[in-house]
Amino acid sequence: MDGRSALRTYLRHQRELGERDLVLDQLTAAEALRLVTASPAVRRSPRPTAPIAAPIAASIAAPIPVPESAPSVPATDPPAVPVAAPVATPAASAVAAIWPPGISMGRMESELFDGPLSDLRTLADVARVTEACTQCTLSATAPRNVPGEGSPSAQFVCVGEAPGANEDATGRPFVGRAGQLLDKILAAIGLAREEVFICNVLKHRPPGNRNPQPDEVAACKPYLVRQIEILRPKVIVAFGTFAAQTLLETPLSIGKLRGQVHRYYGVPLIVTYHPAALLRNPAWKRPTWDDVQYARRILDGALT
Ligand code: URA
Ligand code: URA
Repeated sequence: MDGRSALRTYLRHQRELGERDLVLDQLTAAEALRLVTASPAVRRSPRPTAPIAAPIAASIAAPIPVPESAPSVPATDPPAVPVAAPVATPAASAVAAIWPPGISMGRMESELFDGPLSDLRTLADVARVTEACTQCTLSATAPRNVPGEGSPSAQFVCVGEAPGANEDATGRPFVGRAGQLLDKILAAIGLAREEVFICNVLKHRPPGNRNPQPDEVAACKPYLVRQIEILRPKVIVAFGTFAAQTLLETPLSIGKLRGQVHRYYGVPLIVTYHPAALLRNPAWKRPTWDDVQYARRILDGALT
């Protein structure tokens, strides 16, 4: 098989797997497939020169429709056209076999026995302490705490931002519309809510769902760290800008943080969009799908 045939096969496979925006040297999968299957004259037409500096953003903004059936392949292969190797863009990394390492925050060993909350041995201990916590002012406005819920032996941990009204009313994380979508996201990778652990950076609801304040994060984060230490999960997924930026202590955007395997207290951490953001922008569902698939592979021990 010559290089172009191999590329054609590869692109078809990627498309069948649902990859619409694989980027090859600034070409989308659809554009590249069109080029390698078109007539020589067309194939030699100049490549699109539009800057595709942020391929993920571009593909989110305007997904390129891919024809259901590819144009027929010429019987004889015309002269070869140099095709650059896939470049290491975020979009390409989303389909790469192994994602590069990202930010590493905290060391499991240093916290485990000496941390301020080291006498909390179980998730129930953490829940009890957060219920009585008055370290920040949120306990005065939120009627109840939302410590998180799930399996005490969960190996997959989902971290969101903070409880909203539904969570505040029930004491359970992610039970509103965003929570229902989170359930579907988990189901898509074969996980039931009961077998993972779902929690938030903040354990009490900020009034009116305002953004969490730095002092609230500082007060509440040790509980999350302790939950992670107790569980020692195989993978953490940070859902949304706030969880990602808070856990990794970075101002980088979700677009920059996706497609890497970060570490949080030694545990691989994947960043993806918040389910509430997906409700507003369904175009982000596909990258989210990529991200949770990758997290599932880490859970399965297929990676790292
Ligand atoms: N959004 C979050 O970040 N967490 C919840 O628990 C619910 C909605
Ligand atoms: N804003 C958010 O809060 N979350 C996302 O995932 C994306 C944008």
